Amino acid sequence: MTTLVVAMMAGAGILAGVNSYKDSKIQKSMQTSQQVAGKASVGGAFQLIDTEGRVFSDQDLLGEFALLYFGFTFCPDICPDELEKVAEVVDLIEKQTAGVVKVRPVFISVDPERDTPSKVKEYVREFHPRMIGLTGDIESVKKVSKQYRVYFSKTGEQGATDYLVDHSIIHYLVNPAGEFVTFYSKSNTAEQFAASVLEHVAQWKEGHEGTYHPGNEIKVKKTA
Ligand code: NI
Repeated sequence: MTTLVVAMMAGAGILAGVNSYKDSKIQKSMQTSQQVAGKASVGGAFQLIDTEGRVFSDQDLLGEFALLYFGFTFCPDICPDELEKVAEVVDLIEKQTAGVVKVRPVFISVDPERDTPSKVKEYVREFHPRMIGLTGDIESVKKVSKQYRVYFSKTGEQGATDYLVDHSIIHYLVNPAGEFVTFYSKSNTAEQFAASVLEHVAQWKEGHEGTYHPGNEIKVKKTA
């Protein structure tokens, strides 16, 4: 079951252009897979480079809810749309909770060859002031992508510099303990997305009385 779902995710199913029917089918099977296989099958430790060129790991996100999205700065339309959406989600949540719940948006490049820390810095700024941008060497990017079941593949001619990167279009919700909670796809609207994140935040708070302080940026390094 898990293998099948992972294979589906690694395939063309969640790429750009997929219709929402297919999207929701995949989402259903992924949710089933989570129930069957447990949450340990998605996410985990990673080590990347932030927009200041510093080492940034999963540990740096502990203490707050984060929304991880994998893409590339040269992406012509899907990534900008999805990052605008996630920025809207973060703002909606903050607004709906009168500033109490602050979710951290995180962009992870799957095109580290072109996405230097400064390029990523310039890019994430366009979307949200609190968005963290990460890149790294290709091996580190491959590793974190594999952990999150993110598919990515360069398209176009070998050696070309104006290539595109096919990639999964998924937002991953990670809790303050660094554990994968759930994911959202392109077919989720900002409103649905925000409402669901808030439900998960409420669930988490119930089980972690006194240990989670929403908006408390415990370990996150300040981004300039
Ligand atoms: Ni993209």
